Amino acid sequence: MNKIRVKPWNRVDGPIYSLSTTAHGKGNLNICSYVTPISMKPKRYIVGVYKGTKTLENLEENPEGVLNFMTSKMSSLVNLLGKKSGHKIDKIKKLGDRIQLSEDGFYLLKDSLATVRLKFTTRLDGGDHWAWLAEVVSYENNNDHKPLTLEYLKRQKVILA
Ligand SMILES: Cc1cc2nc3c(=O)[nH]c(=O)nc-3n(C[C@H](O)[C@H](O)[C@H](O)COP(=O)(O)O)c2cc1C
Repeated sequence: MNKIRVKPWNRVDGPIYSLSTTAHGKGNLNICSYVTPISMKPKRYIVGVYKGTKTLENLEENPEGVLNFMTSKMSSLVNLLGKKSGHKIDKIKKLGDRIQLSEDGFYLLKDSLATVRLKFTTRLDGGDHWAWLAEVVSYENNNDHKPLTLEYLKRQKVILA
């Protein structure tokens, strides 16, 4: 008999991102892991956007965002960005000097591995998340730190194993 209790999708590791969005002059950042490149040419992503979030509200108003590729040094940000909502708190204020405002009006995490600017186009109702297709508009590589992953967050006990 198969004694493996962990669900298959929790047995493989994956990267952790923070999606920065803005609407009505106010920014916000979340945590997302349902993120995948889906096309090489043109370069496109699909991002799973959880229903009821401030991120979703912002994208419906302004369908653009910046994916921050997080590093293992950023694990302490996951509780703020991924377990609290911009509907209730001002994450930009709480992040203080850990973010910087880009020329095009998005708050970026300082020292992320890379940032990728996305323009969101069509979306599919995926259940509790929208599966939202996005064009890569531009990107920047910043450093070669270690990527933040689900496994690392489990080891740090930031999320349940
Ligand atoms: C490890 C982890 C992975 C997550 N993955 C996603 C995701 O892929 N898409 C998403 O929309 N929310 C995801 N979330 C949940 C959001 O980050 C969370 O609902 C957040 O509070 C939303 O903030 P907002 O309301 O300010 O947008 C994840 C949270 C954690 C901790």
